[in-house]
Order: sequence, then C-alpha cells, then structure tokens
Amino acid sequence: MVPTLKSAMFLAFLAYASFAAPANDQPVLRCDLSSAVIDTTGTTLPAPKFSPKFLGLGVGTQNYTCTSAGVFTNVGALAELFDISCLFGEPGFDDIAIIAFDLWSLAPPGLSAPEVISLGEKFDPPVILGEHYFVVNPVTGSGLNPKWDFTSHAFAGNPEAFVVGSKIDDVAAPTGASDIDWLYLTNLTGSLANEIYRVDTRGGQAPASCVPGSKEIFVKYTSLYWFTGGAF
Ligand SMILES: *[C@@H]1O[C@H](CO)[C@@H](O)[C@H](O)[C@H]1NC(C)=O
Ligand SMILES: *[C@@H]1O[C@H](CO)[C@@H](O)[C@H](O)[C@H]1NC(C)=O
Repeated sequence: MVPTLKSAMFLAFLAYASFAAPANDQPVLRCDLSSAVIDTTGTTLPAPKFSPKFLGLGVGTQNYTCTSAGVFTNVGALAELFDISCLFGEPGFDDIAIIAFDLWSLAPPGLSAPEVISLGEKFDPPVILGEHYFVVNPVTGSGLNPKWDFTSHAFAGNPEAFVVGSKIDDVAAPTGASDIDWLYLTNLTGSLANEIYRVDTRGGQAPASCVPGSKEIFVKYTSLYWFTGGAF
C-alpha cells in the first residue's frame, strides 16, 4: 500500500470515529457519559468516585531514552485526544482501540504525533478534546507529570480547562505485554477532572534493551482516556 493511501485511511478512520455522532445543532459534538461504565475488567483499578465526563481516544507516542544500564526509561508522551464520547455504547466501540492502533501503526513514518495534532486542527466542527503531554511537576518543581490540556480545543480560551495527574494505580494491561499499563490518576492540579483512567491501551512499550547513549525513541500507542468529575 502506498504511504498516502495509508495516511488517507488513517485520517478517514479518525474522521469516522469523530463524526459517527448523532446530528445536532451543537457546535461541539459531545455525548453525555454520566451513566457510562468504565471497563477495567481484568485489572485491579479502583472504581471511579465521580461520574464520567469526557472520553478521548489518544493517538500518539510514548517516549523513551536509554539509561546507562541499557534499558529504556519513559520520558513522557505526546498524543492527540479525539472525542469519541458519541461512539460509547455503539456497535464496534470495543474495537476502536484496536482499529486505531492498527491504522496508526500503518501510517507512514513521516506522519508524526505533532503532525497528527496539526491534522486534527483541520476537522470542522472540532472533534478534538485536546492534547496530552508531560510537564514539570507543578507542586514539587521536579520530575514530570502527565497533563491533559483542553484549553485550545474543547474549551478554547479557558485557561482552567486542564488537569495534571498524579498516578495512584498502575497495572499491567490485560490485553498483552506489548500494551502499556492501564492507569488510574487523580488531579494534582487543575479542575478539568477529578480522576483520569488510561485503559484499553495498544502498543507503546519500549524494546527490552538498548545501547547506552542511543537516541530517544518514540513508540506509537493508542489508548482510551476517561475523565471523571471536574468542574466543566
Ligand atoms: C515525545 O515525542 C514527540 C514526538 O512523537 C515529541 O514531539 C515530544 O516533544 C516528545 N516529548 C518528550 C517529553 O520527550
Ligand atoms: C480537582 O478537581 C476538582 C473538581 O473540579 C476541584 O474542585 C479541585 O480543586 C481540584 N484539585 C486540585 C488540587 O486542583
């Protein structure tokens, strides 16, 4: 398959995932998730204490550098979060993570996570919740914490629409060893959500070993991110 066709398929999937929503007059297509059940089957992640509010399909990379001991260590991630709230409960919902990961894996190397983010900008109406990346821990000033930032998309112009997470629970993905762990986090700062779940992950794991001094690597992954509670 030629790279452009793969890119087109990937974008068509994202467009489908994002637009398979009931037609309505709302400027933002987002469906009510307050009675949705977050599927953590096969893990010991805790039940949510707040109602689900947002559901994003994360498409991006997990980044790793090689330690002097010759093993990879995670140094952050970058992902675009597509709003898939309207697909929850629809036929095929359980396959979204697999389909998205297969297409993201097939996408040509030239299509990077930052490019997915800039392509996401082209969708109209907006079907992007926001971005996921890492920031210096805003409380201690050292180490990196994950941030989910909806200030440029779902709540454009509202500087409060973010959450920086503290990891509370981390369990092996029940789907397989090549999938990154499923996580439960709470808000360290920010009022976008009280709790964040990373579940139904695909890919993102680093190879078992590396040559010390080798460059940072970017490993493709997809994941569902659920956000509960919050002030939005
Ligand atoms: C993670 O990788 C992306 C490329 O996918 C890059 O743009 C980003 O700056 C990296 N972030 C960190 C913290 O290494
Ligand atoms: C966490 O989010 C809740 C709900 O929006 C908010 O009331 C609370 O202040 C946030 N916590 C922190 C530490 O920012």
